[in-house]
Amino acid sequence: MGGPEEADQLRRLIALAQTLTSARDPDEVLTAVLTATVELFDADGASLALIDTDARQLAFTSMEGLGKTRPFRIPLGQGIAGHVINNGEAVVSNDVSRDPRFLGDIDRKTGFTTTSLVCVPLLERGRVIGCMQALNTRRPNGFSGEDLELLTALAGIAGATLTRARRDRAVRTVGELLRTDENARHEMVPSKNPKMQAALQVLRKAADSNATVLLLGESGVGKEVAARAVHRWSARAESAFVAINCVALTPTLLESELFGHEKGAFTGAQHRKLGKFELADGGTLFLDEIGDMAPELQTKLLRVLQEREFQRVGGNETVHADVRVLAATNHDLKAAVAAGRFRGDLYYRLNVVTVTLPPLRERREDLPALVAHFARRACNETKRRPLGLDGEAMALVESYGWPGNLRELANVIERATVLCQGDKIGAADLPPELGAGTLASLPATADASVPADLSLAEALRNVKLAHVRQALAASNGNQIRAAALLGIHPANLSRLMKDLGLR
Ligand SMILES: Nc1ncnc2c1ncn2[C@@H]1O[C@H](COP(=O)(O)OP(=O)(O)O)[C@@H](O)[C@H]1O
Ligand SMILES: [Mg+2]
Repeated sequence: MGGPEEADQLRRLIALAQTLTSARDPDEVLTAVLTATVELFDADGASLALIDTDARQLAFTSMEGLGKTRPFRIPLGQGIAGHVINNGEAVVSNDVSRDPRFLGDIDRKTGFTTTSLVCVPLLERGRVIGCMQALNTRRPNGFSGEDLELLTALAGIAGATLTRARRDRAVRTVGELLRTDENARHEMVPSKNPKMQAALQVLRKAADSNATVLLLGESGVGKEVAARAVHRWSARAESAFVAINCVALTPTLLESELFGHEKGAFTGAQHRKLGKFELADGGTLFLDEIGDMAPELQTKLLRVLQEREFQRVGGNETVHADVRVLAATNHDLKAAVAAGRFRGDLYYRLNVVTVTLPPLRERREDLPALVAHFARRACNETKRRPLGLDGEAMALVESYGWPGNLRELANVIERATVLCQGDKIGAADLPPELGAGTLASLPATADASVPADLSLAEALRNVKLAHVRQALAASNGNQIRAAALLGIHPANLSRLMKDLGLR
């Protein structure tokens, strides 16, 4: 007792406690817990993984000391982590190579070599929700039984953090992958619309094969939701679904995101990083917004799709990846090919099974079910009692053009559940563009938000109303915070709200 090591440990625990009292978001807390884990156990790395019940996967969301490993997933039930989770019991192994439960799949994903580990279940109100582990201690005697107790305590802090984050709905980062309501965001409402039903039938058939599927349709029609469904229905459901948005990144970044890079490939490449193709090995890779991919990358992608192998940026090792590719775009790809903006040969590669999802205005019969679904989803997320729409609000929803499709509908309903003070969502809880009458009910144009027949004063009023509502929604109805968001004095906000007829 009281040796220099204990004093050191104590110091580190106190430092952790200090960080925890000031940490605001769960990511910060989990990073602090994992950093402390690495230090306290003289470990090389530590990680935390959460169960995604819906996808039947274990998602590694937070890591420390594992280089630049991005969050990744493995099928549930595998390896030592699988054992810990299934049995709810901790495992210490000072030589994993001799532990028959050790699979090495995780090492293959991270590029890290595990020699020893201690892994404990992560609990939320007594329920196992994941696990936490420390990897490779440098101490001569390896991990001890006391380490197991200490890690259990640290996992307790992590578990409590997640519980709190979930309850406060503050979570925007960690575990985003796996909260059950996150899965609700990938749920598909059955459709009564013949076009949609036909599209789904094609997708179900295609799911059985390894065929490349190209999803077309306007923004917000549900292309990503459909891609995830294809994955879930496929034989690859137990493996990863990896999505990448081709429009959000510069060509150079996108290339290293897709194919990974070796250590030293470019300035700042301090570690080897696996690309999405490798992370999706055995699973599905979803290339979103493929129509926006830069021409030079189109050429590289085509080669990979043809040869099913590639090199990481800055490397010459050939990597094979068994990946099923799904792609989506809201562009008219055929027209893009004709205009020379998209490679014809890549288009034909992708165009094996092509499914076009209809815009929402062409499937109005689904509106009631979708409204109910989005209202339920939003109320669940904000822990409100379920809200319905009153007749007037429903009439507005049914007469609107929905240029932003299901995404716009989801946002409108979500906002309405926040604004709504009674037990039914009313017309006043919906944004003004829905109520603009005749013009708004015309088929959607590129910009339906500012009908041209409004006077300037009316248009301004609409903009003000929308803006104030947005600020109020963003601040959960807190007028002081909303005023700060709008950059005005709370008294002015209160006057403005009265002018606009807002409660
Ligand atoms: N079939 C569906 N049932 C319920 N919600 C859906 C469905 N399709 C899409 N959504 C919801 O609509 C929004 C937009 O879907 P998304 O797949 O991102 O569209 P896209 O990729 O076409 O832009 C998301 O909030 C999603 O949850
Ligand atoms: Mg999308």
